[in-house]
Amino acid sequence: MTGPAPDRPGRRPRYPGKNPRRFAEKYKELQPDRYADDVARVLAAGKTPAGTHRPILVREVLGVLAPGAGEVAVDATLGFGGHARELLLAVQPGGRLLAVDADPIELPRAEARLLALGTPPGSVVVRRMNHAGLAAFLAAEAPGGADMVLADLGLSSMQVDDPARGFTFKADGPLDMRMNPAKGQPASILLAKLSIPGLARLLSENADEPDAYGLADAILVAHARKPLETTRSLAEVVRARSGRVGDDAVRRVFQALRIAVNDEFKSLDAFLRSLPACLKPGGRVAILSFHSGEDRRVKAAFKEGLDAGQYASIAPEPIRATVEEVRANPRSKSAKLRYAVRGGPP
Ligand SMILES: C[S@@+](CC[C@H](N)C(=O)[O-])C[C@H]1O[C@@H](n2cnc3c(N)ncnc32)[C@H](O)[C@@H]1O
Repeated sequence: MTGPAPDRPGRRPRYPGKNPRRFAEKYKELQPDRYADDVARVLAAGKTPAGTHRPILVREVLGVLAPGAGEVAVDATLGFGGHARELLLAVQPGGRLLAVDADPIELPRAEARLLALGTPPGSVVVRRMNHAGLAAFLAAEAPGGADMVLADLGLSSMQVDDPARGFTFKADGPLDMRMNPAKGQPASILLAKLSIPGLARLLSENADEPDAYGLADAILVAHARKPLETTRSLAEVVRARSGRVGDDAVRRVFQALRIAVNDEFKSLDAFLRSLPACLKPGGRVAILSFHSGEDRRVKAAFKEGLDAGQYASIAPEPIRATVEEVRANPRSKSAKLRYAVRGGPP
Protein backbone atom coordinates (compact mmCIF):
# COMPACT_ATOMS: atom_id res chain seq x y z
CA MET A 1 0.00 0.00 0.00
CA THR A 2 1.38 3.41 -0.89
CA GLY A 3 0.81 6.62 1.05
CA PRO A 4 -0.57 7.05 4.56
CA ALA A 5 -2.91 4.74 6.49
CA PRO A 6 -6.08 3.71 4.63
CA ASP A 7 -8.99 6.14 4.64
CA ARG A 8 -12.26 5.33 6.35
CA PRO A 9 -14.35 2.82 4.36
CA GLY A 10 -16.22 4.51 1.53
CA ARG A 11 -13.79 7.44 1.22
CA ARG A 12 -11.64 7.58 -1.84
CA PRO A 13 -7.87 7.89 -1.29
CA ARG A 14 -6.78 11.50 -1.34
CA TYR A 15 -3.57 13.39 -0.95
CA PRO A 16 -2.67 14.42 2.59
CA GLY A 17 -4.12 17.73 3.72
CA LYS A 18 -7.70 18.32 4.78
CA ASN A 19 -9.00 20.52 2.04
CA PRO A 20 -7.31 20.13 -1.32
CA ARG A 21 -8.67 22.97 -3.40
CA ARG A 22 -8.24 21.80 -6.93
CA PHE A 23 -9.60 18.62 -8.53
CA ALA A 24 -6.08 17.78 -9.74
CA GLU A 25 -4.81 17.82 -6.15
CA LYS A 26 -7.66 15.84 -4.74
CA TYR A 27 -7.42 12.22 -5.84
CA LYS A 28 -4.34 10.01 -5.89
CA GLU A 29 -5.99 8.18 -8.79
CA LEU A 30 -4.97 11.10 -10.98
CA GLN A 31 -1.42 9.73 -10.80
CA PRO A 32 -2.07 6.04 -11.57
CA ASP A 33 1.63 5.22 -11.98
CA ARG A 34 2.48 6.33 -8.43
CA TYR A 35 -0.66 5.06 -6.75
CA ALA A 36 -1.49 1.78 -8.52
CA ASP A 37 -2.90 0.18 -5.35
CA ASP A 38 -5.30 3.07 -4.82
CA VAL A 39 -6.48 2.84 -8.42
CA ALA A 40 -7.10 -0.89 -7.92
CA ARG A 41 -9.16 -0.17 -4.77
CA VAL A 42 -11.31 2.37 -6.59
CA LEU A 43 -11.96 -0.09 -9.46
CA ALA A 44 -12.77 -2.91 -7.02
CA ALA A 45 -15.38 -0.64 -5.41
CA GLY A 46 -17.17 -0.34 -8.80
CA LYS A 47 -16.00 3.26 -9.32
CA THR A 48 -14.06 4.92 -12.09
CA PRO A 49 -10.63 6.28 -11.08
CA ALA A 50 -10.58 10.08 -11.40
CA GLY A 51 -9.01 11.28 -14.64
CA THR A 52 -9.86 8.06 -16.50
CA HIS A 53 -12.84 6.56 -18.31
CA ARG A 54 -13.76 2.90 -18.40
CA PRO A 55 -14.92 1.87 -21.88
CA ILE A 56 -18.39 0.30 -21.96
CA LEU A 57 -19.56 -2.87 -23.74
CA VAL A 58 -16.07 -3.45 -25.17
CA ARG A 59 -16.57 -7.15 -25.97
CA GLU A 60 -19.91 -6.43 -27.64
CA VAL A 61 -18.52 -3.48 -29.66
CA LEU A 62 -15.61 -5.62 -30.91
CA GLY A 63 -18.11 -8.39 -31.70
CA VAL A 64 -20.17 -6.20 -34.02
CA LEU A 65 -17.27 -4.25 -35.55
CA ALA A 66 -15.19 -7.43 -36.06
CA PRO A 67 -11.88 -5.57 -36.64
CA GLY A 68 -9.32 -7.44 -38.71
CA ALA A 69 -5.66 -6.94 -39.64
CA GLY A 70 -5.04 -4.22 -42.22
CA GLU A 71 -8.41 -2.51 -41.78
CA VAL A 72 -9.23 1.18 -41.27
CA ALA A 73 -11.02 1.82 -37.97
CA VAL A 74 -12.58 5.16 -37.03
CA ASP A 75 -13.33 6.23 -33.47
CA ALA A 76 -15.62 9.26 -33.75
CA THR A 77 -15.59 9.90 -29.96
CA LEU A 78 -12.05 9.18 -28.77
CA GLY A 79 -12.49 10.22 -25.10
CA PHE A 80 -9.93 8.43 -22.92
CA GLY A 81 -9.12 6.10 -25.79
CA GLY A 82 -10.24 2.81 -24.21
CA HIS A 83 -12.23 1.56 -27.21
CA ALA A 84 -9.70 3.14 -29.60
CA ARG A 85 -6.86 1.17 -28.01
CA GLU A 86 -8.66 -2.12 -28.63
CA LEU A 87 -9.51 -1.18 -32.22
CA LEU A 88 -5.97 -0.01 -32.98
CA LEU A 89 -4.43 -3.23 -31.68
CA ALA A 90 -7.02 -5.39 -33.45
CA VAL A 91 -6.30 -3.90 -36.89
CA GLN A 92 -2.55 -4.63 -36.63
CA PRO A 93 -0.55 -5.50 -38.55
CA GLY A 94 -1.09 -3.02 -41.29
CA GLY A 95 -4.25 -1.30 -40.07
CA ARG A 96 -4.95 2.31 -39.10
CA LEU A 97 -6.97 4.05 -36.44
CA LEU A 98 -8.42 7.46 -37.27
CA ALA A 99 -9.80 9.11 -34.15
CA VAL A 100 -11.58 12.40 -33.51
CA ASP A 101 -12.97 14.23 -30.50
CA ALA A 102 -14.32 17.72 -29.92
CA ASP A 103 -12.45 18.14 -26.61
CA PRO A 104 -9.09 19.94 -26.91
CA ILE A 105 -8.20 19.27 -23.26
CA GLU A 106 -8.43 15.49 -23.17
CA LEU A 107 -7.49 14.81 -26.81
CA PRO A 108 -3.69 15.22 -26.54
CA ARG A 109 -3.65 12.93 -23.49
CA ALA A 110 -5.58 10.22 -25.34
CA GLU A 111 -3.34 10.63 -28.39
CA ALA A 112 -0.22 10.18 -26.22
CA ARG A 113 -1.68 6.98 -24.75
CA LEU A 114 -2.33 5.58 -28.24
CA LEU A 115 1.13 6.53 -29.52
CA ALA A 116 2.70 4.85 -26.47
CA LEU A 117 1.31 1.52 -27.72
CA GLY A 118 4.13 1.57 -30.28
CA THR A 119 2.19 0.68 -33.43
CA PRO A 120 3.92 1.66 -36.70
CA PRO A 121 4.26 5.35 -37.63
CA GLY A 122 1.15 6.57 -39.44
CA SER A 123 -1.11 3.91 -37.88
CA VAL A 124 -2.71 6.50 -35.55
CA VAL A 125 -4.21 9.76 -36.82
CA VAL A 126 -5.94 11.97 -34.24
CA ARG A 127 -7.87 15.16 -35.00
CA ARG A 128 -9.74 17.59 -32.76
CA MET A 129 -13.04 18.15 -34.52
CA ASN A 130 -16.78 17.68 -34.34
CA HIS A 131 -17.72 14.32 -35.83
CA ALA A 132 -20.48 16.08 -37.77
CA GLY A 133 -17.64 16.74 -40.25
CA LEU A 134 -16.35 13.16 -40.34
CA ALA A 135 -16.94 12.70 -44.09
CA ALA A 136 -14.54 15.54 -45.00
CA PHE A 137 -11.89 14.18 -42.60
CA LEU A 138 -12.19 10.70 -44.13
CA ALA A 139 -12.11 12.05 -47.69
CA ALA A 140 -8.62 13.36 -46.86
CA GLU A 141 -7.35 10.52 -44.66
CA ALA A 142 -9.03 7.41 -46.09
CA PRO A 143 -10.58 8.19 -49.48
CA GLY A 144 -11.67 4.56 -49.92
CA GLY A 145 -13.76 4.81 -46.72
CA ALA A 146 -13.58 3.09 -43.36
CA ASP A 147 -14.05 -0.58 -42.54
CA MET A 148 -15.65 0.37 -39.25
CA VAL A 149 -16.83 3.43 -37.32
CA LEU A 150 -17.51 3.61 -33.58
CA ALA A 151 -19.29 6.41 -31.73
CA ASP A 152 -19.67 6.26 -27.95
CA LEU A 153 -21.87 9.30 -27.42
CA GLY A 154 -22.05 11.83 -24.61
CA LEU A 155 -19.34 12.72 -22.12
CA SER A 156 -16.29 10.94 -20.76
CA SER A 157 -15.84 10.42 -17.03
CA MET A 158 -12.87 12.82 -17.13
CA GLN A 159 -15.12 15.59 -18.43
CA VAL A 160 -17.92 14.87 -15.96
CA ASP A 161 -15.67 14.49 -12.95
CA ASP A 162 -13.68 17.70 -13.41
CA PRO A 163 -15.66 20.49 -11.68
CA ALA A 164 -13.84 23.14 -13.73
CA ARG A 165 -15.65 21.87 -16.87
CA GLY A 166 -19.03 22.61 -15.28
CA PHE A 167 -20.73 19.31 -16.24
CA THR A 168 -21.27 17.92 -12.74
CA PHE A 169 -23.77 18.98 -10.12
CA LYS A 170 -21.88 16.98 -7.50
CA ALA A 171 -19.22 19.66 -7.06
CA ASP A 172 -19.17 23.41 -7.47
CA GLY A 173 -17.72 24.93 -10.60
CA PRO A 174 -18.44 27.45 -13.33
CA LEU A 175 -21.71 26.75 -15.19
CA ASP A 176 -19.90 26.05 -18.46
CA MET A 177 -20.56 22.56 -19.99
CA ARG A 178 -18.71 23.10 -23.26
CA MET A 179 -16.91 20.06 -24.69
CA ASN A 180 -14.65 22.57 -26.41
CA PRO A 181 -14.26 25.52 -24.01
CA ALA A 182 -12.81 27.63 -26.84
CA LYS A 183 -16.04 27.49 -28.85
CA GLY A 184 -19.64 28.50 -28.36
CA GLN A 185 -21.15 29.88 -25.18
CA PRO A 186 -21.19 28.51 -21.63
CA ALA A 187 -24.47 27.32 -20.10
CA SER A 188 -24.67 30.43 -17.87
CA ILE A 189 -24.81 32.68 -20.97
CA LEU A 190 -27.31 30.39 -22.70
CA LEU A 191 -29.60 30.67 -19.66
CA ALA A 192 -29.49 34.44 -19.87
CA LYS A 193 -30.78 34.28 -23.45
CA LEU A 194 -33.64 31.81 -22.95
CA SER A 195 -37.32 32.55 -22.37
CA ILE A 196 -39.35 30.38 -19.96
CA PRO A 197 -41.15 28.53 -22.80
CA GLY A 198 -37.81 28.14 -24.64
CA LEU A 199 -36.11 26.60 -21.61
CA ALA A 200 -39.16 24.43 -20.89
CA ARG A 201 -39.04 23.06 -24.46
CA LEU A 202 -35.37 22.32 -24.09
CA LEU A 203 -35.88 20.47 -20.75
CA SER A 204 -38.68 18.43 -22.25
CA GLU A 205 -37.07 17.62 -25.60
CA ASN A 206 -33.52 17.01 -24.37
CA ALA A 207 -34.25 15.19 -21.11
CA ASP A 208 -37.96 14.21 -20.99
CA GLU A 209 -38.35 16.44 -17.89
CA PRO A 210 -41.95 16.02 -16.59
CA ASP A 211 -41.99 19.38 -14.73
CA ALA A 212 -40.38 21.27 -17.61
CA TYR A 213 -42.43 24.49 -17.37
CA GLY A 214 -42.30 24.69 -13.56
CA LEU A 215 -38.55 24.18 -13.50
CA ALA A 216 -37.93 26.60 -16.37
CA ASP A 217 -39.91 29.22 -14.49
CA ALA A 218 -38.05 28.61 -11.19
CA ILE A 219 -34.64 28.66 -12.92
CA LEU A 220 -35.21 31.83 -14.92
CA VAL A 221 -36.85 33.72 -12.04
CA ALA A 222 -33.81 32.89 -9.89
CA HIS A 223 -31.47 33.77 -12.75
CA ALA A 224 -33.13 37.19 -13.17
CA ARG A 225 -32.73 37.87 -9.44
CA LYS A 226 -29.06 36.84 -9.41
CA PRO A 227 -27.33 35.26 -12.44
CA LEU A 228 -26.76 31.50 -11.98
CA GLU A 229 -23.08 31.26 -12.80
CA THR A 230 -22.10 28.13 -10.88
CA THR A 231 -23.18 24.50 -10.99
CA ARG A 232 -24.10 24.62 -7.30
CA SER A 233 -26.36 27.65 -7.65
CA LEU A 234 -28.31 25.99 -10.48
CA ALA A 235 -28.55 22.66 -8.62
CA GLU A 236 -29.90 24.45 -5.52
CA VAL A 237 -32.67 26.19 -7.47
CA VAL A 238 -33.72 22.87 -9.06
CA ARG A 239 -33.67 21.03 -5.71
CA ALA A 240 -35.71 23.77 -4.06
CA ARG A 241 -38.40 23.32 -6.72
CA SER A 242 -38.29 19.51 -6.95
CA GLY A 243 -38.02 18.50 -3.29
CA ARG A 244 -37.59 14.79 -2.65
CA VAL A 245 -36.87 13.85 -6.28
CA GLY A 246 -34.43 16.75 -6.46
CA ASP A 247 -31.34 14.98 -7.76
CA ASP A 248 -33.14 13.19 -10.61
CA ALA A 249 -34.46 16.57 -11.72
CA VAL A 250 -31.01 18.15 -11.36
CA ARG A 251 -29.54 15.37 -13.51
CA ARG A 252 -32.15 15.98 -16.22
CA VAL A 253 -31.67 19.77 -16.14
CA PHE A 254 -27.89 19.38 -16.48
CA GLN A 255 -28.33 16.87 -19.33
CA ALA A 256 -30.75 19.14 -21.18
CA LEU A 257 -28.49 22.19 -20.88
CA ARG A 258 -25.36 20.26 -21.87
CA ILE A 259 -27.08 18.96 -25.02
CA ALA A 260 -28.15 22.51 -25.91
CA VAL A 261 -24.77 24.11 -25.12
CA ASN A 262 -22.99 21.64 -27.41
CA ASP A 263 -25.78 21.39 -30.01
CA GLU A 264 -25.44 17.64 -29.64
CA PHE A 265 -28.52 16.55 -31.58
CA LYS A 266 -27.57 18.67 -34.59
CA SER A 267 -24.08 17.09 -34.61
CA LEU A 268 -25.50 13.60 -34.14
CA ASP A 269 -27.99 14.04 -36.99
CA ALA A 270 -25.24 15.26 -39.35
CA PHE A 271 -22.95 12.41 -38.28
CA LEU A 272 -25.70 9.80 -38.82
CA ARG A 273 -26.50 11.21 -42.28
CA SER A 274 -22.83 11.09 -43.31
CA LEU A 275 -22.22 7.51 -42.15
CA PRO A 276 -23.18 5.45 -45.23
CA ALA A 277 -20.77 7.51 -47.34
CA CYS A 278 -17.99 7.10 -44.74
CA LEU A 279 -18.11 3.29 -44.85
CA LYS A 280 -16.66 0.93 -47.44
CA PRO A 281 -19.08 -1.64 -48.83
CA GLY A 282 -19.43 -4.21 -46.06
CA GLY A 283 -18.26 -1.63 -43.48
CA ARG A 284 -19.72 -1.70 -39.96
CA VAL A 285 -20.85 1.07 -37.62
CA ALA A 286 -21.53 0.74 -33.89
CA ILE A 287 -23.10 3.49 -31.78
CA LEU A 288 -23.42 3.59 -28.02
CA SER A 289 -26.12 5.94 -26.78
CA PHE A 290 -27.08 6.88 -23.23
CA HIS A 291 -30.53 8.43 -23.30
CA SER A 292 -33.71 8.31 -25.34
CA GLY A 293 -33.01 11.47 -27.38
CA GLU A 294 -29.84 9.88 -28.76
CA ASP A 295 -31.16 6.36 -29.18
CA ARG A 296 -34.30 7.49 -31.04
CA ARG A 297 -32.12 9.26 -33.61
CA VAL A 298 -29.72 6.34 -34.07
CA LYS A 299 -32.58 3.85 -34.40
CA ALA A 300 -34.44 5.99 -36.96
CA ALA A 301 -31.32 6.73 -39.05
CA PHE A 302 -30.35 3.05 -39.23
CA LYS A 303 -33.92 2.07 -40.19
CA GLU A 304 -34.03 4.75 -42.91
CA GLY A 305 -30.63 3.57 -44.21
CA LEU A 306 -31.92 -0.02 -44.31
CA ASP A 307 -35.09 0.98 -46.15
CA ALA A 308 -33.03 3.04 -48.64
CA GLY A 309 -30.70 0.09 -49.31
CA GLN A 310 -27.67 1.88 -47.83
CA TYR A 311 -27.40 -0.68 -45.05
CA ALA A 312 -27.63 -4.42 -45.62
CA SER A 313 -28.53 -5.12 -42.00
CA ILE A 314 -29.08 -3.32 -38.69
CA ALA A 315 -29.37 -4.35 -35.04
CA PRO A 316 -32.89 -5.71 -34.51
CA GLU A 317 -32.75 -4.63 -30.84
CA PRO A 318 -30.21 -2.63 -28.87
CA ILE A 319 -27.52 -4.60 -27.04
CA ARG A 320 -27.32 -3.81 -23.29
CA ALA A 321 -24.60 -4.23 -20.66
CA THR A 322 -24.62 -7.47 -18.68
CA VAL A 323 -25.59 -7.49 -15.01
CA GLU A 324 -21.89 -8.04 -14.19
CA GLU A 325 -20.80 -4.99 -16.19
CA VAL A 326 -23.48 -2.79 -14.62
CA ARG A 327 -22.36 -3.93 -11.16
CA ALA A 328 -18.69 -3.25 -11.98
CA ASN A 329 -19.40 0.03 -13.81
CA PRO A 330 -22.80 1.62 -13.06
CA ARG A 331 -22.26 4.11 -15.90
CA SER A 332 -22.96 1.23 -18.32
CA LYS A 333 -26.54 0.84 -17.04
CA SER A 334 -28.21 3.18 -19.50
CA ALA A 335 -26.01 2.28 -22.50
CA LYS A 336 -27.65 0.99 -25.69
CA LEU A 337 -25.50 -0.38 -28.50
CA ARG A 338 -26.87 -0.40 -32.05
CA TYR A 339 -25.07 -1.41 -35.21
CA ALA A 340 -25.51 -1.27 -38.98
CA VAL A 341 -23.66 -2.93 -41.86
CA ARG A 342 -23.18 -1.15 -45.17
CA GLY A 343 -24.42 -3.02 -48.22
CA GLY A 344 -21.97 -4.43 -50.79
CA PRO A 345 -21.33 -2.79 -54.18
CA PRO A 346 -24.54 -2.26 -56.21
C1 LIG B 1 -18.29 8.59 -23.69
S1 LIG B 1 -16.89 9.49 -24.22
C2 LIG B 1 -16.00 8.33 -25.21
C3 LIG B 1 -15.18 7.38 -24.40
C4 LIG B 1 -14.31 6.46 -25.23
N1 LIG B 1 -15.09 5.53 -26.01
C5 LIG B 1 -13.30 5.74 -24.37
O1 LIG B 1 -13.22 4.50 -24.44
O2 LIG B 1 -12.58 6.39 -23.61
C6 LIG B 1 -17.56 10.56 -25.42
C7 LIG B 1 -16.56 11.49 -26.08
O3 LIG B 1 -17.18 12.00 -27.25
C8 LIG B 1 -16.81 13.33 -27.42
N2 LIG B 1 -17.85 13.94 -28.26
C9 LIG B 1 -19.16 14.09 -27.96
N3 LIG B 1 -19.80 14.67 -28.99
C10 LIG B 1 -18.89 14.87 -29.97
C11 LIG B 1 -18.94 15.41 -31.29
N4 LIG B 1 -20.08 15.88 -31.81
N5 LIG B 1 -17.81 15.42 -32.03
C12 LIG B 1 -16.66 14.95 -31.50
N6 LIG B 1 -16.53 14.44 -30.26
C13 LIG B 1 -17.63 14.39 -29.50
C14 LIG B 1 -16.71 13.89 -26.02
O4 LIG B 1 -15.86 15.01 -25.98
C15 LIG B 1 -16.14 12.68 -25.25
O5 LIG B 1 -14.75 12.75 -25.18
